[in-house]
Amino acid sequence: MKIFKTGIIGCGRIGSLLEEDPLRGKPCTHTGGFSALPNIKMVAGCDINETRLKKFGQQWKVKKLYTDYHEMLSENELDILCIATWTNQHATMALEGVRAGVKGIFCEKPIDTDIKLARKLVRVCKQKNIPLLINHERRWDAYYQKAKKLIQTGKIGEIKTIIGNALSWKPDVLPVSQYGGGPLFHDGTHLIDLLLYFGGPIEWVSGQETRPKGKHYIEETACAMIGFQNDTIGFIEGGGARKYFNFELDIQGSEGRLLIGNSGRELYVTRKSKRFKGFQELEKIPFPEPKRYETPFIGGARDMVKSIRTGKSSNATGEDALKALEIIYTIYKSAQQKGKRLKPK
Ligand SMILES: NC(=O)c1ccc[n+]([C@@H]2O[C@H](COP(=O)([O-])OP(=O)(O)OC[C@H]3O[C@@H](n4cnc5c(N)ncnc54)[C@H](O)[C@@H]3O)[C@@H](O)[C@H]2O)c1
Repeated sequence: MKIFKTGIIGCGRIGSLLEEDPLRGKPCTHTGGFSALPNIKMVAGCDINETRLKKFGQQWKVKKLYTDYHEMLSENELDILCIATWTNQHATMALEGVRAGVKGIFCEKPIDTDIKLARKLVRVCKQKNIPLLINHERRWDAYYQKAKKLIQTGKIGEIKTIIGNALSWKPDVLPVSQYGGGPLFHDGTHLIDLLLYFGGPIEWVSGQETRPKGKHYIEETACAMIGFQNDTIGFIEGGGARKYFNFELDIQGSEGRLLIGNSGRELYVTRKSKRFKGFQELEKIPFPEPKRYETPFIGGARDMVKSIRTGKSSNATGEDALKALEIIYTIYKSAQQKGKRLKPK
C-alpha cells in the first residue's frame, strides 16, 4: 500500500489543538483527520511556537519538527502539504510547497487575504496538475451532501431564495491589511462557498456593512443581497454583533424548504392544508439520515489522496475557494459604494 507522507505547517487550533475540546466530534483537526487513514502518515510538523510544536510532536508521535517551514519542505519528500497557519500566509506557503515538489496541497480557508496571490496559486497548481483542496469542510459533511442530493432530485422544487447567516460576536479591532476581513471573511467564506455549492454561479452582489473603525479595519457586520445566474436570490449576514455563534442556510424552493446549519436540519414539503380549505402549506417531514457519518476531516483527507491519484482536485477546490474570496471582496467593495450592484471578480 502506498503511504502518503504528510507534513503540516501550523500546529495550532485547527492543525491539532482542537482535538482537546471534549465537545467536538472527532477527529476535528487536520492531524486528526490525516492520522485516521491507514495510507497517510504525518511525518513532519512545523510551527514558530516551540511549545506548540513540542506538544504536537509528543501527541502525534511525529519526530521531524521544524520552526522553519522551508527546512521542513527541503528535508522531507512530502506527498501532501497541509497548511493550517494564519490566512495571510496560505498562498505563499502553498507556492513554496509546489516548488519543493509536493503532490497535493490541503490548505485552510480562506485561501488567502491577497487575491492576486490566491489567483497565482490556483493557476500554478492547475498548470502543474497539483490538486489544491481548501478546507471548506462542510462539502465533506454527509448531511450537507444529503441536502444537495435532496435539492438535485427536486424534493423542494426550484430554489427561489437562499437566506444564510454566519453570526458571531463583535470582533476585535483588527487591520484589514493583515486579516483580510472580519466575520464575513473568516466564517462567511464557508457561507459563500455553500451558496455556490447549493445555488450555483453568482452573477451580482449588493453589499451593506457596519465598519465602526473605518475602511482600514475589519467590519463588524456585512450583509448582502445576491443574484445567482439562475435567478435565485440570496440574502446573507456575516457577523452581526450577537452574543452567540450561529451558522445556517434556509433554502426555500417552489415546493418545499430545507434548513441546514450548526444546530441541525429541517425539511418541509408542500401538502394540502389541514387548516384552510383549498390551500397548500408546508409540512415538516424527517430529514433523511445519511447511511453513515464521519467528521469532514476524514472525508477531506480521503479526497486529498483521491485527488493525488487522479491528478485532479475532487472537492472543495482552490477554484471554488477563489470564487468565494472574489465574492466576499466584491461585497465589501459594493458596500463602500452604497450597495451598488457589482459582478464578482
Ligand atoms: N475550517 C474551519 O472551520 C477553521 C476553523 C478554525 C480556523 N480555521 C483557519 O485555520 C487557520 C489557522 O487558524 P487557527 O485558529 O488554527 O489559528 P492558531 O493561531 O491556533 O494556529 C495557527 C498556528 O500557525 C502557527 N504559525 C504562524 N505562522 C507560522 C509560520 N510562518 N510558520 C509556522 N507556523 C506558523 C502559529 O504559531 C499557530 O500555532 C486560519 O486560516 C483560520 O481561518 C479554519
